[in-house]
Amino acid sequence: VQKVAILTSGGDAPGMNAAIRGVVRSALYAGLEVYGVYDGYYGLYHNHIEKLERYSVSDIINRGGTMLGSARFPEFKDPAVRAKAVENLRQYGIDSLVVIGGDGSYMGAKLITEEYGFPCIGIPGTIDNDVAGTDYTIGFQTALETAVTAIDRLRDTSSSHHRISIIEIMGRNCGDLTLSAAIAGGCEYIVVSEKQFNKVDLIEKIERSIANGKRHALIAVTEHICDVNALAKEIEDRVNLETRATILGHIQRGGTPCAFDRILGSRMGVYAVDLLLEGQAGRCVGIQNEHLVHHDIVDAINNMKRPFKEDWLELSNRLF
Ligand code: F6P
Repeated sequence: VQKVAILTSGGDAPGMNAAIRGVVRSALYAGLEVYGVYDGYYGLYHNHIEKLERYSVSDIINRGGTMLGSARFPEFKDPAVRAKAVENLRQYGIDSLVVIGGDGSYMGAKLITEEYGFPCIGIPGTIDNDVAGTDYTIGFQTALETAVTAIDRLRDTSSSHHRISIIEIMGRNCGDLTLSAAIAGGCEYIVVSEKQFNKVDLIEKIERSIANGKRHALIAVTEHICDVNALAKEIEDRVNLETRATILGHIQRGGTPCAFDRILGSRMGVYAVDLLLEGQAGRCVGIQNEHLVHHDIVDAINNMKRPFKEDWLELSNRLF
């Protein structure tokens, strides 16, 4: 390996910059050349590639988002698009690629590695914490802090007005962010994609607790499960307590990365370069039980499942 390129793809996540910096600085330290690809696979296809130096990644460790830009680029499923992307890399003499992103981004890395024998390493970067083979993805902890701060604020106003507050939290189809934020924020009710949503049951539970004297409540719901505004209306009609829904949305994606994500990003970035130097290809980086690990990308996409934290959900049932 002599020339490594790096890109960030899919939804941005706080701490991606630390990972970019980790890759760039450790690659330069090892005597490699480093190239930044702007705007993910879109930029790879359109040849938005630039050489990076040590100072290209100065003053970014503390910044949210990704200095390389990101994009969703479903066109990368097209073999002709991938052929052009690889041709672009080869034009610069680039011989390896680090991809920071989620599942979708891993898929691109897997295809390039398989079809062209082009060594790629994936680093998990997404607020969703939905990538297999790692306990944490870069960005999850920062998004969690953001969500908890929002819940705290909603608690203040719900409590003052004796209202019910529904908070919709991101995560795509993964309940990790919702579950963690709900426990830390003291939410009474948790609705996650991993469990069948039973609206009747939820409303009955709320009715019971109101009958027992409860005057406000917080309900955390993962996105894509139901229309939270419609749910708010339904609850309000049934339990006769004013109900408001708040969709936290992209607020959760931005902001200063917390120390955990900066350290995780830095460690994973350096580790990805180590793997390339060892001659590894088609691998993805993870952290499991505090240790950096790597897995086959195909396995991570197809076979490995992230276990749902049943015990956390069970615990939350006993906290209100
Ligand atoms: O994957 C990160 C994420 O923020 C998900 O939580 C959410 O479902 C999705 O991206 C939103 O995507 P977009 O930014 O393209 O609207």
